[in-house]
This record gives sequence, C-alpha cells and structure tokens, in this order.
Amino acid sequence: MAEIDRLKVLDPLKVLAGAALGAAVGIAAGAAARGGAEGSAGTGQAGATPPPAPAPSAQERAAAAAGGAAAYAIAQSAATELARRTCRPRHDLAVVLGSGWQEAVAGLGEDPVDLPADELPGFARTTVAGHTGVVRSVTVDGRNVLLLLGRAHLYEGHTPSVVAHPVRTAIAAGVGTVVLTNAAGGIRRDYAVGQPVLIADHLNLTGASPLAGAPPPADMPSRFVDLSSAWDPKLRALAREAEPSLAEGVYAGLLGPQYETPAEIALLRTLGADLVGMSTVIEAIAARHLGAALLGIALVTNAAAGVLEAPLDHAEVLAAGKAAAPALARLLAAVVERALATV
Ligand code: HPA
Repeated sequence: MAEIDRLKVLDPLKVLAGAALGAAVGIAAGAAARGGAEGSAGTGQAGATPPPAPAPSAQERAAAAAGGAAAYAIAQSAATELARRTCRPRHDLAVVLGSGWQEAVAGLGEDPVDLPADELPGFARTTVAGHTGVVRSVTVDGRNVLLLLGRAHLYEGHTPSVVAHPVRTAIAAGVGTVVLTNAAGGIRRDYAVGQPVLIADHLNLTGASPLAGAPPPADMPSRFVDLSSAWDPKLRALAREAEPSLAEGVYAGLLGPQYETPAEIALLRTLGADLVGMSTVIEAIAARHLGAALLGIALVTNAAAGVLEAPLDHAEVLAAGKAAAPALARLLAAVVERALATV
C-alpha cells in the first residue's frame, strides 16, 4: 500500500461524515474482502496472476457512478486490486487507447498481464465496437506501464465519474503521466485520414465535468482546476522530437453518439476547433485535477461532416485505425519511451 499513495485512502471518520460515504465504506470493505495483498514489483507474468476477485457489486458500481468522495475511494480500491492482480505495486505511465488505437499496442512492452476491466472495482463494461475492455500491464525499460484498451463514454449513458474512473485508478496506482488517444473527425481541411495529431488544447462541449457535484474529499486537490496548460507542452515537444511531422490541433469533445451536422462543424471551426470527437475531455479534466501530466494524440479517422461529400460511419473510423496501426505503434512506442524518461 505504501507505494500507492497518490490518492490517499479516505479516513474512515471523514468517510462517515458525508452522504455518499456509506457507499464508500462499502466499497473499501468490498475491496478488502476481495483481497488487498500486493505482490512484488515487476514480476507479473501472464498465466501466473492471482485469481480474479468476485465481480464488483451493484452497490460499488452505483457508488462509483455517483461521484464525490466515493469515486476517489473506489479508484483507490481499483488501484489496490490492480496491484494485487498484476503483482506490480505501482505503475508509472498510463495510455488510454481509443477507437482505432487498440492494435497499435499489440507489441508494446514486455511481460503483459491482461485483466478484463470489469473485474476491477468501478470499471464499466464497454458497449462500443473497437473497445475491448481490457486493462493490460506491461513493462517498458523496467518501468510499469498501464494500457487501457477501451474507455467508457458519456454517450453510453455513463456518468462523468465512470468515464474518469480508469484515469483516476491509474493515478491512484502511481501514474504521473497519462497519454490519451482517440479517434477524431478532422475539421481542418489540411488534415489527412490516418494522420495522428497532437492535442494542443480542448473545448469541453459535453456539458459535463467529472468535478461537478459533491466536492472532492478534503485531502484531494481543489475542484477549481487550472486548465491553462492542460496538455503538457514538454510532453508535446517530446512527441514532436519522436515524430517531427506531427501537427497540433484543438480537440472539441462533444457528447455524441451521433456524428455532427455540417452546420455544427462550421460552428466548431469558428470556435477554433481543429478536431472533433466524443471522448477524452472528461478524462483530461480528471487527470489534471489529480496533477498528472497529459499528452493527447488524436487519430484523424475521417474528414468531419461537410468537409467532404462523404457520409460518416463507425466502420470507417475503425478501418482508418487498422490501416494506421503500424505507424501509430511506432509513434506510441517512441512517445512512451521518451515520456518514461521524464518520470
Ligand atoms: N465526429 C465525432 N466523433 C468522431 C468523429 C467525427 O467525425 N470521427 C471519429 N470520432
């Protein structure tokens, strides 16, 4: 437990003070019942992992969805379970793999340990094609890296707390650098399908925030988070070092799941958006709230509505990811290696 201290376990007395907190106590007890023993660093091997804990209870899922103090408690529980199952007491860096990105990590790292995400407390079951719902732990240059293959989206009906939960778990597990990847529509006419673009800034147009609602516990940072340099300039420079041709753009995060109208894309362009998608911004806010450094890479999977005559569909998004996978794999490996050197 000592190494997993970025999110401190809630003081039980404080926990009892708030309304959401009966649930948090239940979560902590549930996680403890599932077994909190942690193994030694870097020894996890596929096939040699501890047995899965019982699936999270409905109460735990509900508490995680509600947000507030319970959301942080269940992230801590998930981090503890992750450490136990992977036999890796902490992780250094996490990568969230969005639509089209899953194949890009097939060869990333060594000694992979795969866990079905929904066996970890608070993780949602994925309902989206192209999102496998696997949490993979690998080692890269002797460091532990968490690969989150798939994510939860607001448009699936998940609350912002559930969407933010994997990132909060990663940070509770020791992660100080979070790489968020996604598939996006290209609003700029000079973006090509299959092109990765660094996220320089974002517009959160979802109408939601992982920090809305009950305030974080007193031992967490203030919810009034400064986002003026949310997308870490140093990490972006490192990524451009790895791939000098990388463009940068502003990502507009919308609720979805429908694609946009041409009029909406015209509006987004006037607002300063270069890319449009249905993810990332909620996780980004949660990561910055907890002080993690953020890098974002969007894969342009299609020209946004109205940019070309062509209609949009999800199969096209996945196909673009498949075609770009070898180039994305090289880019991610180089970026992860460089980013690890800074943590
Ligand atoms: N719009 C919104 N989300 C997306 C798009 C798009 O054009 N392409 C991939 N994700």
